[in-house]
Amino acid sequence: MRLTEEMQRVVTEQGLGFVATVRPDGTPALSPKGTTRVWDDGRLVFLHLHSPGTVANLATNPSVEVNVVDPIRRKGWRFAGQATVHTGGPLFEEVVAWYARPATAPPAKAVVVIDVDRAEELVSPAYDSGASETEVAATWRERYLATASEPDAMPAEMRWPAHLHPGALRWVRSSTSYADTVAFYRDLVGLPVVGSFQGSFGEDGTIFGLPGTATHMEIVRSEVNAASADRFDQIVLYLADDSAVERAIEPLLAAGVTPVGAPHPYWEANGGVVFLDPDGRGVVYAPWIFGSQPDPVDRLTGTSAG
Ligand SMILES: Cc1cc2nc3c(=O)[nH]c(=O)nc-3n(C[C@H](O)[C@H](O)[C@H](O)COP(=O)(O)O)c2cc1C
Repeated sequence: MRLTEEMQRVVTEQGLGFVATVRPDGTPALSPKGTTRVWDDGRLVFLHLHSPGTVANLATNPSVEVNVVDPIRRKGWRFAGQATVHTGGPLFEEVVAWYARPATAPPAKAVVVIDVDRAEELVSPAYDSGASETEVAATWRERYLATASEPDAMPAEMRWPAHLHPGALRWVRSSTSYADTVAFYRDLVGLPVVGSFQGSFGEDGTIFGLPGTATHMEIVRSEVNAASADRFDQIVLYLADDSAVERAIEPLLAAGVTPVGAPHPYWEANGGVVFLDPDGRGVVYAPWIFGSQPDPVDRLTGTSAG
């Protein structure tokens, strides 16, 4: 069969197939192959680097199934076909040369070429609720980043604890200037609206993605008297640098909204620009990325203000 562009895209992007073969005693065998690639419009290929079992199984039964799944989008393909194992010859040489692996990489003991004769899409039950691909991907991207285990990834003590692993995080604010506050975050700050409701359990609300749905802020209409917002009641948007801040605040300035003069000396010292929303809560545009870079004031003085 012909592998569609979509199938080829997923295989090429992921490069990791779970390959099922049948042992001589009839039991199944499954193992991952990170060298899984598209060889041409009808064939997949992987390298036998440390797969003695798979290759031995194929000698007695060339039937094979391969699952390639995008773990973020929670979709993929299952391919079924017949495999041929090449330990030498022109195709072996051609495939090995095409991989262009570094000389230090373990040598390929064989090349396994799969003639695909059937393909079925794999779709996670995460979509059963009607969730969009963007929503599903946002949740799993977040989880992936939170659990990534590269040496320089988030230190273990900063990750969600084992017993608490939310798939999405929301904070809720009540607003006595609901329409103006929603317009402020939607039109001037520019946050995407990912949901809204009218008269739901008696309430009106608008949900802003930051972005997507994994982290979001909900504004709910409040009919009670406004409580005055504390000066520390803020959201902080950490942007790459001063020019990123300038670009981000353009719509506010163009609408005639002016920054408030340093509600706290910390923001002034660090080059932050602060606006107040219609409820009097702060939106801080900070010209550095918290967690990746030190505060600008620390970079200048070499001290740590915490
Ligand atoms: C992420 C990952 C990718 C792997 N990629 C390959 C591969 O491309 N080729 C290979 O021969 N072994 C690869 N391995 C190792 C085999 O899966 C592993 O040695 C397995 O035990 C082989 O089982 P088998 O002998 O039944 O085939 C990979 C393992 C992991 C965890």
